[in-house]
Amino acid sequence: MASSVFHAPCGAPSIKQLECQKYVGLRPSVTLRFNCVKTKTVMARRLVVTASKSHDGASKKLGISDAECEAAVVAGNIPEAPPVPPKPAAPAGTPVVPSLPLSRRPRRNRKSPAMRASFQETNLSPANFVYPLFIHEGEEDTPIGAMPGCYRLGWRHGLVQEVAKARDVGVNSVVLFPKVPDALKSPTGDEAYNDNGLVPRTIWLLKDRYPDLVIYTDVALDPYSSDGHDGIVREDGVIMNDETVHQLCKQAVSQARAGADVVSPSDMMDGRVGAIRAALDAEGFQHVSIMSYTAKYASSFYGPFREALDSNPRFGDKKTYQMNPANYREALVEAQADESEGADILLVKPGLPYLDVIRLLRDKYPLPIAAYQVSGEYSMIKAGGALKMIDEQRVMMESLMCLRRAGADIILTYFALQAARCLCGEKR
Ligand code: PBG
Repeated sequence: MASSVFHAPCGAPSIKQLECQKYVGLRPSVTLRFNCVKTKTVMARRLVVTASKSHDGASKKLGISDAECEAAVVAGNIPEAPPVPPKPAAPAGTPVVPSLPLSRRPRRNRKSPAMRASFQETNLSPANFVYPLFIHEGEEDTPIGAMPGCYRLGWRHGLVQEVAKARDVGVNSVVLFPKVPDALKSPTGDEAYNDNGLVPRTIWLLKDRYPDLVIYTDVALDPYSSDGHDGIVREDGVIMNDETVHQLCKQAVSQARAGADVVSPSDMMDGRVGAIRAALDAEGFQHVSIMSYTAKYASSFYGPFREALDSNPRFGDKKTYQMNPANYREALVEAQADESEGADILLVKPGLPYLDVIRLLRDKYPLPIAAYQVSGEYSMIKAGGALKMIDEQRVMMESLMCLRRAGADIILTYFALQAARCLCGEKR
């Protein structure tokens, strides 16, 4: 069973952490063994279903031929099966009632771990994860206060180690988010397409070490903008669309030149997917994919991320470009545009509060769907776990499974390493 649901280069998933594997259908049936044995009393071949943890309780072989076994049964010497176990007692005081006349009892299909695993509709694998990583120019890894367990990683050392750890448990896709020095930020975010900038340099380094690593990049101006916005801000506060798209095209081409596999516009400007596709193609990057942040909502769940990158907007909010959390149909408008402009993957963000939108795009579009379990979602689970209000690991696995159930093919999640370790049966 395990091998059919789980294809990750972390070896055969050993069954150590059953709690996790229960969610993903990796739990083996330890209690049921179906043995075809020759039984002791009379020489007859019978199928005996034992329900024991070991084979040893079964009968010894008597060295009797099949014909002799059959003859014995024909002669009326029927071998004994193990006794039927007594009916388990209900607690005293349990009311005695007639059975409900139900033709359908859905609990029948949930009655054992093996059956539950057989009928599990959705599975989770490290291959579904994209690991978002924060990078900076420093040598040290700096913890991010609002995201326990996450760091701004030194691009030369910490980052490379983190990628190695992720690959060890089958996570071979990462998305990079740079923390840019304030001195390099400007109103037009030109550092975003500096070929020697932090992101292109990091891509070179990672591709040199791990040529088969899949590198996603973020296309947006906010880490590079002195205004902390995803686009260029006019003096009256308007975010300029087409001028921003011009910059984004240069940014995407610079990332592709460095070796990015998938560029991911997260800015929500109109027309950026088509423009980026054309710019990539014009420079010979037909093979570089575009993952479009199709339905990206103006969400308060991004707070910890903005702390991580120090990228809070200096004024105002992002509501003139990111979507209103109250809107559902509008996601179709965005998806239609992105599909027709050539997006390869459609992304919904945030994840768990927007499962309906994931399902909508999954049902209406044949393209792969990505879900972004954002920083606020991550931090809430971490905080709840630290306060012992919830079981962090189980809630983590359940939330990821639910994103898959809603229709996400891939999940961008800060839990990628932790969850993949859990799937591989490693203890933390
Ligand atoms: C900005 C960007 C944001 C995130 C990813 N890319 C923040 C924003 O839109 O302000 C948020 C991710 C997260 O919260 O984990 N281009």
